[in-house]
Amino acid sequence: MKRKKALKVAAEKLPKKRFKHSERVAETAVKMAEIFNADKEKCFLAGILHDYSKYDELSKMYQTVTTEKLDPELLQYKTEVLHGPIAAVKMKNKFDITDEEILNAIAHHTSGRKQMGIIEKIIFVADYIEPKRSQPGVDDIRDIVFGKNNLDLAVYSITKANIRHLLNKDSTIYHKTLECLNYYNMARE
Ligand SMILES: [Fe+2]
Ligand SMILES: [Fe+2]
Repeated sequence: MKRKKALKVAAEKLPKKRFKHSERVAETAVKMAEIFNADKEKCFLAGILHDYSKYDELSKMYQTVTTEKLDPELLQYKTEVLHGPIAAVKMKNKFDITDEEILNAIAHHTSGRKQMGIIEKIIFVADYIEPKRSQPGVDDIRDIVFGKNNLDLAVYSITKANIRHLLNKDSTIYHKTLECLNYYNMARE
């Protein structure tokens, strides 16, 4: 898929605010691609498309988990985790995106996982630090990325913050997120 088509697909599907967020994630991801020597086109496409399924109906998402034989554990979670894996399935089935790096980046932006590829890590982090984000600690992550150029430490710090937030709400933590925390705790320098 080309940039122009991806922009059209996202613009037609998403509310304006979410589309604008997706544009900022894509731009942030391209900026990061330069620092970390990643493919800019793949970063742009994954960024623009990552939230495609953000507002899909939950019951339909559960159907897709079953018909596409996705991790059955996903049935224990809601949109916050599901919209990544579901968007990746749609990109593959509906828009013929076959690039595994793009599909994995879209799929795992909601959970992280161990041993992520470079595009996956960039989208995961860009989603958290795009310029309009203002959550506590976000400037520290921006410095880890643009100052220290330490992508693995950024993934770890974001995952730690996400898990803290979930624990404060007594939420259950998806196993891929826990594996992400442990893996990047070891990987970070
Ligand atoms: Fe998302
Ligand atoms: Fe997002």
